[in-house]
Amino acid sequence: MALYSEKVMDHFRNPRNVGVIEDANGIGEVGNAKCGDIMKMYLKIEDDVIQDVKFETFGCGSAIASSSMATELIKGKPVSEAMKLTNKAVAEALDGLPAYKMHCSVLAEEAIQAALEDWRSREKQS
Ligand code: FES
Repeated sequence: MALYSEKVMDHFRNPRNVGVIEDANGIGEVGNAKCGDIMKMYLKIEDDVIQDVKFETFGCGSAIASSSMATELIKGKPVSEAMKLTNKAVAEALDGLPAYKMHCSVLAEEAIQAALEDWRSREKQS
C-alpha cells in the first residue's frame, strides 16, 4: 500500500489557497518545535463568514497537504463551523495520514484556531 493517499499527493503537488491575504483580519502562526515546521494562516472574515483563506507553510509534504485541505474545508463557511475543525477531520478528508504524520494535521488545526483567535481579539478592540 502506498504510504500517502492520492489526495495527500494531490494537495502536496497542487496546494490550494497558497499565499498571503494583504488585508486579512485574522492571522495565526504556529510551529512544531520537534520538526521545526511552521504554518501561517490568513483569514478574511466578513459577516462571521470565512470569505477567503490563504496559507504559507514551511514544512513537510503532509503539512502542506494538511494546510491546503484545511483551507478548503473552511472556505465560505461560518466562523462557528471553522472553530470546530479538528485535525482528525483534516486527515480524514485527505483519506488518512500515516500515524507518525498526524502531528502535521495538528499544525493545520492549530494555525486556523490561532487565526480565529486573532480575529476575535481584533473584533473586541474595534
Ligand atoms: Fe512536522 Fe510534518 S514533519 S509538520
